[in-house]
Amino acid sequence: MWSITLCCLPVHRATFYFPGSNFMSWSTCFCLFDVLLLSISHAPSSLHINQTQHCKLLTGLVSSQAQLCRSNLELMQTIITAAREVKKTCQKTFSDMRWNCSSIDIPVDAPKYRPDLDRGTREAAFVYALSAATISHTIARACTSGDLRLCSCGPIPAEIPEPGYRWGGCGDNLHYGLIMGSKFSDAPMKMKRAGSHANKLMHLHNSEVGRQALRDALVMKCKCHGVSGSCSIRTCWRGLQDLREIAMDLKTKYLSATKVVHRPMGTRKQLVPKDIDIRPVRENELVYLQSSPDFCAKNDKQGSVGTQDRQCNKTSLGSDSCDLMCCGRGYNPYTEKLVERCHCKYHWCCYVTCKKCERLVERYVCK
Ligand SMILES: *[C@@H]1O[C@H](CO)[C@@H](O)[C@H](O)[C@H]1NC(C)=O
Ligand SMILES: *[C@@H]1O[C@H](CO)[C@@H](O)[C@H](O)[C@H]1NC(C)=O
Ligand SMILES: *[C@@H]1O[C@H](CO)[C@@H](O)[C@H](O)[C@H]1NC(C)=O
Repeated sequence: MWSITLCCLPVHRATFYFPGSNFMSWSTCFCLFDVLLLSISHAPSSLHINQTQHCKLLTGLVSSQAQLCRSNLELMQTIITAAREVKKTCQKTFSDMRWNCSSIDIPVDAPKYRPDLDRGTREAAFVYALSAATISHTIARACTSGDLRLCSCGPIPAEIPEPGYRWGGCGDNLHYGLIMGSKFSDAPMKMKRAGSHANKLMHLHNSEVGRQALRDALVMKCKCHGVSGSCSIRTCWRGLQDLREIAMDLKTKYLSATKVVHRPMGTRKQLVPKDIDIRPVRENELVYLQSSPDFCAKNDKQGSVGTQDRQCNKTSLGSDSCDLMCCGRGYNPYTEKLVERCHCKYHWCCYVTCKKCERLVERYVCK
């Protein structure tokens, strides 16, 4: 198979990691299909996929993804944008947690897997869901902004709008985003030889949960018109909420994710909740197969970087509190100098002048 041959070539300097694609390790030259990779942070930001040959640089792709790349270069460029977005959003969303998405950051040349992501953990569940949602979100928005030639605005809703409202503007093309997004995201899981059956089911399920969260995030957005902003008429369209909000929704699902086991149900093996296996897995819940470590201490095997030197919040009662973040090891204070704009004055007409004020704040890092 094409992708396997490619996978076992020495790693090119410009190796990219993609959501849902396989991972290469040059120490073993072993193809791990169900490890997921999102980090294209090492990709030069100047890279612009505008020629079919560029698809060869994306060595982590499985064959159907590579085919999609060759047949639709514009779409591929959008997917690269999405992969960067996944990393940024994941790290922002988890900045107050012990596991902070740092495993996405492991450098290309580190011959290591990301055990927290390839073992079928809760963290992997979140990352798969977020990747699937982000790819479809980015494609849907790219349709709206005119970056993709094969799609444009979403359809005008069929319902008749309320008085004072009318459909207009350019809605996000969620339909196209979902079709093309799942085509790309799910490709590695649909391959016969890809990883264990249980892991594939888990990743497919969680990717679908991510896309469902995206469907739920399609909301009505309106713009006011009328005499001097009276808003007597509103033009409305269906638009997607920002990724940050979708990621927060998925984080809530991460916190209440369900542990599942892979066992025969009827004629096939399926994922069923471990504790209450009388009910099937729900469509909107994230599922995982293996428990995670507590991520307190550094443990390469488990994919934990530990929380030493992480900033914590002394007054918070949440997961970023010094107690929880530092796992009871204690913390060290340090002072940080903040420079802020202050004593701002408005001058007629029309500018503002400010002074610079310095302020010392106490911060804490885990021992
Ligand atoms: C491809 O993209 C690069 C980088 O943006 C650009 O310099 C080059 O002119 C583009 N080539 C084509 C054929 O559009
Ligand atoms: C995540 O935590 C690690 C380990 O403490 C730290 O080195 C890294 O800077 C953190 N990453 C982000 C994005 O906060
Ligand atoms: C610490 O937590 C408190 C309470 O949640 C919050 O008001 C404050 O802004 C946080 N401080 C920092 C530096 O994040």
